[in-house]
Amino acid sequence: MLAGVNDRFNRPLKDLRISLTDRCNFRCVYCMPKAVFGTPTHFLPAGEAMGREEIAKLVRALSALGVHKVRLTGGEPLLQHDIVPLVGDLAQISGIDDIALTTKGSALSRARAISLKDAGLTRVTVSIDSLDPNRFGRINGVGFPVNRVLEAINNAAEAGLSPIKINVVIKRGLNVVDVVPLAKRFRFSGHTVRYIEYMDVGASNGWLPKDVVPAREILEMLSTEWPLHPVEPAYWGEVASRYAYDDGGGEIGLISSVSQPFCGTCTRARLSADGRLLLCLFADEGVSLRDMMRRGATEQDLIDTVRRIWKGRDDRYSDLRNGDSSRSTKRLERFQIGG
Ligand code: GTP
Ligand code: 5AD
Ligand code: SF4
Ligand code: SF4
Repeated sequence: MLAGVNDRFNRPLKDLRISLTDRCNFRCVYCMPKAVFGTPTHFLPAGEAMGREEIAKLVRALSALGVHKVRLTGGEPLLQHDIVPLVGDLAQISGIDDIALTTKGSALSRARAISLKDAGLTRVTVSIDSLDPNRFGRINGVGFPVNRVLEAINNAAEAGLSPIKINVVIKRGLNVVDVVPLAKRFRFSGHTVRYIEYMDVGASNGWLPKDVVPAREILEMLSTEWPLHPVEPAYWGEVASRYAYDDGGGEIGLISSVSQPFCGTCTRARLSADGRLLLCLFADEGVSLRDMMRRGATEQDLIDTVRRIWKGRDDRYSDLRNGDSSRSTKRLERFQIGG
């Protein structure tokens, strides 16, 4: 029997989000605006990022504390050359029953999707913030063609990496016009579009509260076109609120991290690409488990350390955000922390 661990607000540790790399081939306006991240000088030098064996060792340790779900993120996780064997390693770990990947889909060929599935990846979530080629190119900052991402979604579906979720970050004045077309495109496809409120992640995207489009407004826009009804969460602490089309067209999700935060049920630990354990998406520091391992820590040492840290966890940034305008801006960037 595994001994789980709860934090100070009685939230169990259940999910681990691992940033495999901080490198990214996109420069999304809401994450790595080109004006700030024009050159790749901000990325970790070789050797600083965790290696495949280190990641597997950490996941083994965390699974002993109750983690059953692993999400691979980045940066762009598909830029990690050994992602397929890494997924294979993670799939062997007892207690891990869900291995998901969040990607922008620029490097998800048919062959790669099949290899990932064969290695044990359960499902993928692909981001796409507009169907309009010009707007999509502007939002991703590098003119990446939207058709290639649509192909990636098809490749993932054909490989059986489902259910597929489509993440859409909505920012006022940027892509509110895309809310309805994206829903229309994916209704009856079996894929779930999830609309994400633009967040103040990191310290470089120039976030302002007025740029946030509340989930309620998105729901109204969609319900005007197609009546929707709420659906029970798939699991305790699910980030997205689910709604189904009355006509059987499938589901959408709303991620209201700003207007209705969900810290009360947050069961997620994060590992930055350089192996720091982060207790919140908005953390500005974390203990380096990578350094511990490089100094010879055993799996049991890791278990003991993480248990102690998680027990003391009291992070609930989004719950506190709305009342506090003097927050620290030292926060790690989203591509470092893994989203
Ligand atoms: P599943 O429910 O397992 O499919 O995944 P998910 O929705 O947790 O993962 P995904 O990577 O698709 O995240 C969707 C959006 O929610 C992203 O913008 C994340 O940054 C955001 N998100 C995920 N977890 C948290 C969290 O703990 N806090 C906040 N504020 N946002 C989160
Ligand atoms: N606000 C909301 N979501 C964001 N993401 C990246 N930056 C932000 C932000 N500032 C999203 C990505 C991806 C997910 C993991 O995080 O688009 O879908
Ligand atoms: Fe965009 Fe993700 Fe890269 Fe950030 S890490 S620039 S959200 S693709
Ligand atoms: Fe969890 Fe922090 Fe997000 Fe709140 S803001 S849900 S504590 S990661």
